Amino acid sequence: MQKPTPTRHPIHPLLQHRWSPRAFSEKPVPADVLRSLFEAARWAPSSNNEQPWAFLVATRDNPESHARMLSTLVEFNQTWARHAPVLAIAVSELAFARTGKPNRNAFYDTGAAVADLSLEATSRGLFVHQMAGFDPHRAIELFEIPSGWEPIAAFVIGYPGNPESLPDTLRQRETASRERKPLTEFVMGDHWGKTAAFVQD
Ligand SMILES: Cc1cc2nc3c(=O)[nH]c(=O)nc-3n(C[C@H](O)[C@H](O)[C@H](O)COP(=O)(O)O)c2cc1C
Repeated sequence: MQKPTPTRHPIHPLLQHRWSPRAFSEKPVPADVLRSLFEAARWAPSSNNEQPWAFLVATRDNPESHARMLSTLVEFNQTWARHAPVLAIAVSELAFARTGKPNRNAFYDTGAAVADLSLEATSRGLFVHQMAGFDPHRAIELFEIPSGWEPIAAFVIGYPGNPESLPDTLRQRETASRERKPLTEFVMGDHWGKTAAFVQD
């Protein structure tokens, strides 16, 4: 399903077509495709080329691990994410490996890696839906994440499913147009709060 994306200025079709569905098909994602998605994440930029990310990935062909990862999600997310064939948790290393000093860009870099993975997914007819709604402490415990690493966000990967399969409230959200703030609210020029001169909305 394509989602209405009322852009005000032209953008690349990949960016226009990416969105976060909740209706997923149970069709498995082939291993070679998964490798390409994480290869895209691998080539994301990062501060000092630290690559402070790691991913826990649970596919449905390992039902125990899929169920264990599903159990880290809040109930709302479990209702729809359970159908996705791939669940994952993005984890960040909090300090630079070489110096042990705090890496204040670790979360930022991990987000960039997931963004690149999401666009690679979009290019292959797949969708990614990220979730803050999960229990990081439970993820640490169930997946034995070592100290110095922090689970940042969970996400699902899968092929689009039928929105009719969702409960009423979610079905409406599934088909609603995507919304964003205008550029005038967040692209500033020579002073905080002053819209940049090149921005016209
Ligand atoms: C870090 C992050 C956390 C999110 N957490 C959740 C979540 O817990 N549950 C959910 O249904 N959607 C979640 N979302 C999806 C957002 O609601 C969605 O990206 C936003 O509404 C914009 O919609 P779009 O991705 O379709 O453009 C999250 C997205 C991000 C990037």
